[in-house]
Amino acid sequence: MAGQIPQRFIDDLLGRVDVVEVVGERVQLKKAGRNYSGLCPFHQEKTPSFTVSADKQFYHCFGCGANGNALRFLMEYDKLPFPEAIEQLAGRLGIDVPREGADDPRAQQREQKRKEGVNLLELSASFYRERLKMQEGQSAQRYLLGRGLSEEVIKSYGIGYAPGGWEALKQHLSERGINESVQVEYGLLIHREDTGRTYDRFRDRVMFPIRDLRGRTIAFGGRVMGDDQPKYLNSPETPVFHKGRELYGLFEARQASNKLEQLVMVEGYMDVVALAQYGIHNAVATLGTATTEDHLTRLFRLVSRVVFCFDGDRAGRQAASRALETALPQMIDGREARFLFLPEGDDPDTLVRREGSQAFQDRVTCAMPLSEFLFEQAAQGRDLNTVEGRERFASQVLEALNKVPDGMLKSLLLESLAQRSGLAQEQLKTLLEKRAAATRQHASSGAGGQSPEASSAVDSAPVARVGARQAGSAQSSPSRTRALSPVGRIAQLLLHEPGLVAALPDSLAWLPEDDDTPLCQELIALLKAGRYRSPQVVLAHFQGSEQGRALAALAKRELLIPKADREAELTGLVEHLQYVQRQRSPQGEYEALLAQERAGHKLDKEQRQRLASLVMELAQRQ
Ligand code: UTP
Ligand code: MN
Repeated sequence: MAGQIPQRFIDDLLGRVDVVEVVGERVQLKKAGRNYSGLCPFHQEKTPSFTVSADKQFYHCFGCGANGNALRFLMEYDKLPFPEAIEQLAGRLGIDVPREGADDPRAQQREQKRKEGVNLLELSASFYRERLKMQEGQSAQRYLLGRGLSEEVIKSYGIGYAPGGWEALKQHLSERGINESVQVEYGLLIHREDTGRTYDRFRDRVMFPIRDLRGRTIAFGGRVMGDDQPKYLNSPETPVFHKGRELYGLFEARQASNKLEQLVMVEGYMDVVALAQYGIHNAVATLGTATTEDHLTRLFRLVSRVVFCFDGDRAGRQAASRALETALPQMIDGREARFLFLPEGDDPDTLVRREGSQAFQDRVTCAMPLSEFLFEQAAQGRDLNTVEGRERFASQVLEALNKVPDGMLKSLLLESLAQRSGLAQEQLKTLLEKRAAATRQHASSGAGGQSPEASSAVDSAPVARVGARQAGSAQSSPSRTRALSPVGRIAQLLLHEPGLVAALPDSLAWLPEDDDTPLCQELIALLKAGRYRSPQVVLAHFQGSEQGRALAALAKRELLIPKADREAELTGLVEHLQYVQRQRSPQGEYEALLAQERAGHKLDKEQRQRLASLVMELAQRQ
């Protein structure tokens, strides 16, 4: 069969296809400067934050962070495995995909092993399903029945049974020519170093296959039927299974509906399955871990609303706080998170069985919005009738707000915080900016490396140095900045101090057509998306591109003005450009000239002629 696709073929292929064309066939794109933009196909949004660059042959979403080349786009959008995506791209150009090493024994071996890996998980899943139906699976059948599961749901979730004994699966797989070492690698077999013995990891357990988005089994969870420990045993990390990323039930949820709008995050396998049996097909569970950023990224690519479901007890509240912390940085406009607390002693499984489907659905519908949970948390244990209590309350909310990307949610939270705390919104804004600045400072000092942004930064030396000596050289030679255009200077200010983006007007109409404009525009869009708070991270984002080099050069030039004056310089520059712009549009220019005349400044001959021709031009347009 087919061997590996040679890397140089892939490189060559990518050099010949056009990412704008590939994306453009699937997403409506509009030309915006040198780039194209449109609504991101990987998350739900109403205003476009998805850009495709023909120069860089790269797409990037400033909203959800999705990015890559034509190949990656096909793999993600059309959900194609790598070789098929390559075939697709080659097909566009009418060329065949060469395969190498078809007769090289080592390559054959590698290929064999890869196939075994995929195969043996499927083989194991069907082995467990078969065993559930046989005599030895009777106790498991009874157990599942006792837990109220129907045949139908057992089938759709592929639930099975791992027999007792030590070698049932090992024998089954070995008879089919699958190496023990592969069985160990994929977590099905345990290898004891001391005795050298190997035996089945899952024995006498009810087996839940964990599937990836395309429905391929990638791991298992197995439940004991008695009181043994552990209650659930999961596959270890393997080449295809990473606990912190996968969600149980996601494939099945997608199968049940191709128009998913929200997903309900629950804690256990049984919760997902029980809800499905009651007609609630959009529940997913983490696999015995807390919710990670990876989980949320995946979920928000599929739906715009996630409802976290927790037990009503203290542990549940704690888990909810952690989920809140993880969710805050992900809350870009268009996304929604809610929190549902169940009565103490219940989980979704017991509750839906007792109350029925409608009552559970109603609970989901009424789940607490993120904002409410945030305020409730901050108010906990504080007396909001005292000034001190209110201050502490506000300070905790602000700390959370600092993590939220700029957008609707952030403004609403700020507004609501002002109401609840009795503090003026302006005052809160200042406090928030101070916090953000402190975070930036921390990130750009790079000292502790606690901030994930700081740790992912590239070489930060030039920027850090500039930051450290800001005020000192305030008066010294402005001549070095003279060479920058206003747009270049704006980019430089923003790069050194990303938080200044907040001072820019919403519309970017004031940006002139200028060499520095595409770079500046991209920088602004990136910063507005709110996730880049330090110069290093911004540089890291553009690293390796022409724009990256231009920005690095800007980063090395000192700003030469004190920190306190930077915002004023920025707004001054924007006002200047807005003025120039007004002058450029006929209507604006006309108005500007009229205003000048009315203010008593005499127009010269040229200006009067210009005014006359503008009147003609404008009249013709109407
Ligand atoms: P729970 O202990 O709440 O179990 O664990 P559950 O989901 O209600 O299961 P049933 O109803 O008793 O069968 C919640 C989840 O935590 C993980 C599993 O993913 C489980 O579904 N877990 C729990 C483990 O991984 N190992 C364990 O030993 C226990
Ligand atoms: Mn349970």
